[in-house]
Amino acid sequence: MGNNIEVLISEERLAARVKELGRQLSADYAGKDPLFVCVLKGACIFFADLIRAMTCSVQFDFIQAASYGNGTSSSGEVRIVKDTQASVVGRNVVLIEDIVDSGRTLARLSRLLYERGAKSVKICALLDKPSRRVEGGAEAEYVGFAIDDLFVVGYGLDFAERHRELPYVGVLSPEEARGEGNE
Ligand code: IMP
Ligand code: MG
Repeated sequence: MGNNIEVLISEERLAARVKELGRQLSADYAGKDPLFVCVLKGACIFFADLIRAMTCSVQFDFIQAASYGNGTSSSGEVRIVKDTQASVVGRNVVLIEDIVDSGRTLARLSRLLYERGAKSVKICALLDKPSRRVEGGAEAEYVGFAIDDLFVVGYGLDFAERHRELPYVGVLSPEEARGEGNE
């Protein structure tokens, strides 16, 4: 196990970049009473580290959208499977996401929160694959790392619900992505 995965972003690089993002967000949102919304499940590890790098007061909540089956490409359809509890009316919301790929999920979530009366909605994504974008309205103001068009796992990101527990971001071998890995 694990040897089908090559490290792309090490634990140390993740930790350093997450601290920087926390500092930047703290400066930008000081006094703005932001609501940080973690997009489940992929962003949960990033979210927990980011929150602890914040120096301004934040409230947080969770939302879960489903757009993917168990494959590596988007179906195009986005469904809310778990909704936020807090009201977003008049709030400065920051959506915390693991990765922006086609952009469909975040475009949909951002639109939804504006429709519900949020004052502002910004996006903070650990990873961004700009070459994959098919939908606008999902540009992240805060990005940890821009990466090439690779399928990555670890630090919360999964392939068919596996590998989320890895402490680094790694690239899945094409064999495993095709379902020819061990198991
Ligand atoms: P989008 O709606 O196409 O932007 O898809 C975003 C979602 O697809 C992310 O929140 C991830 O759950 C998933 N995703 C996209 N690329 C990857 C990847 O390389 N590894 C793991 N999950 C991914
Ligand atoms: Mg996923």
